Amino acid sequence: MGNKYLVTGGAGYVGSVVAAHLLEAGHQVTVLDDLSTGHRAGVPAGAEFIEGRIQDAAKWLDPSYRAVLHFAAFSQVGESVVNPEKYWVNNVGGTTALLAAMRDAGVRTLVFSSTAATYGEPETAPIPEDAPTAPTNPYGASKLAVDHMISGECAAHGLAAVSLRYFNVAGAHRAADGTTYGERHDPETHLIPLVLQVAQGRREAISVFGDDYPTPDGTCVRDYIHVADLAEAHLLALDAARAGEHLICNLGNGNGFSVREVIETVRKVTGHPVPEVTAPRRGGDPAVLVASAERAKELLGWRPSRTDLAGIVADAWEFARRKETA
Ligand code: UFG
Repeated sequence: MGNKYLVTGGAGYVGSVVAAHLLEAGHQVTVLDDLSTGHRAGVPAGAEFIEGRIQDAAKWLDPSYRAVLHFAAFSQVGESVVNPEKYWVNNVGGTTALLAAMRDAGVRTLVFSSTAATYGEPETAPIPEDAPTAPTNPYGASKLAVDHMISGECAAHGLAAVSLRYFNVAGAHRAADGTTYGERHDPETHLIPLVLQVAQGRREAISVFGDDYPTPDGTCVRDYIHVADLAEAHLLALDAARAGEHLICNLGNGNGFSVREVIETVRKVTGHPVPEVTAPRRGGDPAVLVASAERAKELLGWRPSRTDLAGIVADAWEFARRKETA
């Protein structure tokens, strides 16, 4: 029958893919999501769904849950700069309530969706977990604050926790029942889905935010990781979590691709023209963000298998086209 898991934010992009993986592995899943940014249709068919806030998690958590996988959060860097209080109230305040509810219910294992944005402007590439954490925006700061809260909870109250720091998540997951789970942000701000919208003719051109960075082609370099590889790390993290310990692992492929390389890959994969225009730099964008994921490989036994950028883009393209015809 497997174990029972609470997935907060399981109607969002990464949460829904992880929920689908848990179900495919034979577990029971309850999704808690307030649908403020998630989609009801993103909740996998086999999951129980609760429409509610993490602030009220105590209403539903009980000792039958083996662990919580916590994805519910606001995640737009730009929005966090103009509306930081939203990020402190929800991401930090909400997680405070969730941790208290877990303590009260005796649910003592947590996997947390953290981010490379906790590192800020990196001094090195690839970035290891012991790199300095100096977030450049309130989104990253709120996620770092939660990582600190989790460390305290582990030390003081014996929580077993793993924080997974994602780099640039992309692609889509096709579940065993044929359902495809992908990225559907509104507004969309991420590079790959936006470039695919241009390929579909839904946007005129892609804006390249800055081509004067100190990188080979002048555009920003990012580490794109397939959402299904990312999801697998969460299942491994559940097994690796130890009482009283807070393990932090980066998740990325260790390969950087520039904005222009991503656009060129989309042209090749889709066969469609993708006009581009050079635009000013976007505030707060580091030139290069590439992960060292050696710790996840060593301690979780994680083996990403979908590391080819064209394959990641092809899966995202399949999802985008299905959405178009849905
Ligand atoms: N970009 C463009 N044009 C666009 C959109 C993006 O040139 O229209 C560029 C960005 O400037 C950046 C790169 O494409 O250089 C990737 O941008 P994304 O918005 O797709 O991703 P980010 O690297 O900004 O952000 C991701 C996650 C964040 C996380 C951050 C830190 O989405 O949640 O990585 O690792 F905080």
